[in-house]
Amino acid sequence: MNRHTVEPLVAAHVDPPWDPAAWRAAARAALRAGVAPERIDWNGGMQGSLLGGSDLALLPAQRPAPRVPAEFLALASAVLCHRADDRHGLLYRMLWRIAEGERALLQCASDPDVHRATTMAQAVRRDSHKMKAFVRFRAVPGADEEYVAWFEPEHHIVDRVAPFFARRFAGMRWAIVTPYRTALWDGEALAFAPGGSRGDAPAEDAREDLWRTYYANIFNPARLNPTMMRSEMPQKYWKLLPEAALLPDLMREAGARVREMAEREHAAPRRKIPAAPAPAPVLDGSLEALRESARDCRRCPLWQPATQTVFGEGPADARTMIVGEQPGDEEDLSGRPFVGPAGRLFSRALDELGIDRRTLYLTNAVKHFRFEPRGKRRLHKRPDVAHISACNGWLQAEIAHVRPERIVCLGASAARAVLGPGVRLSEERGIWRTREDGVRAFATVHPSWVLRQGDPPAQAAAYAGFVEDLRQLVTA
Ligand code: URA
Repeated sequence: MNRHTVEPLVAAHVDPPWDPAAWRAAARAALRAGVAPERIDWNGGMQGSLLGGSDLALLPAQRPAPRVPAEFLALASAVLCHRADDRHGLLYRMLWRIAEGERALLQCASDPDVHRATTMAQAVRRDSHKMKAFVRFRAVPGADEEYVAWFEPEHHIVDRVAPFFARRFAGMRWAIVTPYRTALWDGEALAFAPGGSRGDAPAEDAREDLWRTYYANIFNPARLNPTMMRSEMPQKYWKLLPEAALLPDLMREAGARVREMAEREHAAPRRKIPAAPAPAPVLDGSLEALRESARDCRRCPLWQPATQTVFGEGPADARTMIVGEQPGDEEDLSGRPFVGPAGRLFSRALDELGIDRRTLYLTNAVKHFRFEPRGKRRLHKRPDVAHISACNGWLQAEIAHVRPERIVCLGASAARAVLGPGVRLSEERGIWRTREDGVRAFATVHPSWVLRQGDPPAQAAAYAGFVEDLRQLVTA
């Protein structure tokens, strides 16, 4: 075509505009028809209107379907939730460039398109994290076990985050109302409806006192960092949080409480782990009920200095369960397993193997952080056999609930907890065993052991061996 000829614009319709499958279908059709990025008019806004020109679906395919790297699709699914109207066009331009031969485009962090898309994806992930942390359900007066929450996300993240709430609050019926979209869970299926207003959620209910008591208990004055707290929990969300009312007092009293805690620590007698500890894990309820009862576990003394129980997380019907040793410092503070340095190394290995971490159920042999205070730091201390056996009831109950096909034990403590006290990691590494309940399991090294290997070549070799062991999840 003559370079002065103006080709007609093509309208692309993505409905809803944040839906990865809808965008993919449109982008794929455009790419197959050879439509250059500047010729597409995307409906980036919320109206979903067609802007004129011919429809993508009507264009004849001229090229084979493109092969798109999984990494790009993961990035695109986050970017699509960003509120910026140009996101569809940005992603299509990147896809076009990849299809035209720039296969390593995503590795070029300084490229303006890559930089912008990465920044947008980060903003969406941050917003998703805030939604998970700050949504608070309130009981609907007069209704039986029905809950509604009001939340104002910055981006279009409701569809992305709703499955998290469906897993976490599977046994309740709930709605999360936002200005642009409402997510509904009836105990079996997720549905979406138009947005609403703050008045659609009840203002306060009897559970608020429970939240406040819980928060006052887990608040650790020694870790108080008001600046970080304000950035992690922006004041915009405070009005949603029953516990926010406590913050000014807790912050004011923090200094005195730290001194009191230090004195108590010196005076505390060294106690033996009780022989018949309570409460016992519940097996007849849901996984969520099990998690709830583990919150108050006192089966060994590790609960006392720890911030909270770090229970397992992941799909309740996961095919694969990963068992680590115990939560570390970051896990203890966030309440989630494998979010610290060892967890990040583990995630890297999973990415390399093409395993989606979200499909795994991640947990630990011991659910409280054992540490030694060293100045302001808390140094990891390996759990004793007694801690592992006190916590084993929770782990076995998790296994019984999730019924994974296979378990990977990270490190010797996990191997003992899953395969029995006689197991030696040096002899068993990488070898599949079948437990009495029929679940297959193998043990490998712990990612924090990989991180502890001194020089870079030793660490690289340890990491390569770790990845090779995990590869069995892909091939077996
Ligand atoms: N190490 C573990 O074993 N588990 C975690 O959750 C984090 C670090």
